[in-house]
Amino acid sequence: MVVVGSGIAGLTAALRAERNGAEVTLVTKGDLDETATRSAQGGIAGVLTASDTTAAHLADTLTAGAGLADPAAARILVEEGPARIRDLIDAGVPFDRDDDGNLRRGLEGAHSHPRILHAGGDATGAAIERTLLDVLERSTVTVLEHAFLLDVVLVDGHAVGVEVLVSGARRTITADAVVLATGGAGRLYPHTTNPAVATGDGIAAALRAGAAVADLEFVQFHPTVLAVGTPFLISEAVRGEGAVLRDSEGRRFALDAHPDGELAPRDIVARAIAEQDGPVVLDATGLGAPDTAAFLAARFPTIDAVLRSRGLDWSREPVPVTPAAHYMMGGVSTDLAGRTTVPRLYAVGETARTGVHGANRLASNSLLEGAVFGARVGDAVIADAGTAWAGPAAGTPLAAVEPSAPDAPPFTRAALQQLMWNHAGLVRDESGLARATAVLAAWSHCGTDRPVDVAAREDANLLRVAVEVVAAARRRRGSVGAHVRRDETPSVPEMQEATAC
Ligand code: SIN
Repeated sequence: MVVVGSGIAGLTAALRAERNGAEVTLVTKGDLDETATRSAQGGIAGVLTASDTTAAHLADTLTAGAGLADPAAARILVEEGPARIRDLIDAGVPFDRDDDGNLRRGLEGAHSHPRILHAGGDATGAAIERTLLDVLERSTVTVLEHAFLLDVVLVDGHAVGVEVLVSGARRTITADAVVLATGGAGRLYPHTTNPAVATGDGIAAALRAGAAVADLEFVQFHPTVLAVGTPFLISEAVRGEGAVLRDSEGRRFALDAHPDGELAPRDIVARAIAEQDGPVVLDATGLGAPDTAAFLAARFPTIDAVLRSRGLDWSREPVPVTPAAHYMMGGVSTDLAGRTTVPRLYAVGETARTGVHGANRLASNSLLEGAVFGARVGDAVIADAGTAWAGPAAGTPLAAVEPSAPDAPPFTRAALQQLMWNHAGLVRDESGLARATAVLAAWSHCGTDRPVDVAAREDANLLRVAVEVVAAARRRRGSVGAHVRRDETPSVPEMQEATAC
């Protein structure tokens, strides 16, 4: 089996399959720890005390999903989650504990109970990544770093390996199963919390292999990303501890948008920020009084160090924040064991669309998803060997769009990101999406999709995924979850025009 990607989903799938007796190769595009997992601050959600219930976690997950989450997938997430968190504890993840040795549990947006575990305050993902990499080092898994995924190799429609680019040379790794765990495509947008490697490589490779994708219109924008310098996530956990958002007049405005204020679902908070006329700040100056500086440094050491390195003392001054692309709820369509529509091809984590998040993901459910569904994939790969493939139903491939934007600007990644931010960002409408469709078609037809080096191949992957995001956003004419259309009730001529496309 070959696993592509080394975040929590890929590592869990690889280690579980190895434990099950599989011969596993893990390839990754950058350094092993260059993943979104490593920078996850918020934590991992799970019910580990009698005062909370999986029914409540399920209800919160389904509510965040805005009616579009698959209840069966969400049930698996919350019911298998505690066991997977215990696996992480057994593996050595140093989750934060109180003076009595009990796990500390934090509250985050749209959770009805404090059930978020953290490690190192705000360095949960880094602690999980480090621990799993330690386990990997002691395992028999063969690791290949700096190997860029070119394509899934198919024989008679079955995945039989991957072709990768290593130091400029093509190399084929044959395997009885391929697992795509390459994360999402946050780099579609100029403002994102995602690492540089998040260029949708797995989703694009799956599309080229003929796999179905779904729900790509649902892109989650995190509300609080530092608005000065390189984008940097300021965890929702900061608002969970009581930090508030203020407009340029110092007024707290989040309660106007939702009774839960700063802890409302992310899409609501993100739009409330985007709708403000002036800059918005996150005010943590009241936390942990009387010694706010000490509290922030102890509870959020990573954020505190980064802000201070940029000359910002957030214990005294609120810091400017902006929404930024954070997470893709959609991806490669899979069943509940990661099987895609292509036999022997699996997808997991942010690359996959299991339906677990519906139209919007609940905070701290993504590390949990990687752990739960990574383990399921690691089991399924073995169980499926030699059996007939039973993945999800195949989708309908997108029809090609003829180029119709003679005024399209020259293709650059920055131009693509700006196009997506303007027309497929926090709020969308038909005319913007139609413009995006036309420009993307022009770029696709002008050869941008026949790349030579890695950066150009990443661009081609982003372009391929952008086409799908925009097409999905055009198809969904009503607002739901993270997908918001300002033209919810389209006129008849607009509908006809869209159908003709
Ligand atoms: C955060 O720390 O706010 C992000 C956590 C998440 O995306 O679930």
